[in-house]
Amino acid sequence: MTRLPVRTPYSLLGGEDGVRRITRRFYALMDELPSVRPLREVHPDDLSDAEQKLFEFLSGWLGGPQLFMERHGHPRLRMRHMRLPIDESMRDQWMHCMRHALDSEVSDPELREQLYEALWNVADHMRNRASAHHPQGEYAHPA
Ligand code: HEM
Repeated sequence: MTRLPVRTPYSLLGGEDGVRRITRRFYALMDELPSVRPLREVHPDDLSDAEQKLFEFLSGWLGGPQLFMERHGHPRLRMRHMRLPIDESMRDQWMHCMRHALDSEVSDPELREQLYEALWNVADHMRNRASAHHPQGEYAHPA
């Protein structure tokens, strides 16, 4: 029996090349934009390892090969980020880079918005510190 081609976000993005383009742009923006300097500063000087790992993670998360899992085990991203001070501001800086990376690398507007929203949820889940202006706690969401 022949298999029908599966339409995953990964394939809609153009597979490996598409996911590479997004991650490359994402870290180039993190390196360049003055508005995300605090985010840049919690990263190592050399961003190539982080870029490669985000590529591997997104590959599987988008429905392509589970590269991160194969090479580094279960992602457990929240746990892997615990040593980093991630508050609302850090989340927003991360999503700022992702917004621009998706805007420049994903041509289909519907797919772009779906990816943005899904990634926002992942980034929000990564928060592990209360914000200076929301001292009531890390899980307090604005109404
Ligand atoms: C959707 C949200 C996010 C995703 C999918 C993501 C993904 C990843 C992945 C896959 C890694 C590699 C993990 C490893 O080394 O084992 C990583 C590392 C890292 N992430 Fe994130 N991350 C997210 C949000 C954030 C946020 C909000 C920050 C803000 C501080 C952040 C900062 C870092 C840093 C500093 C590293 C380590 C880089 C290195 O040492 O090479 N991440 N992230």
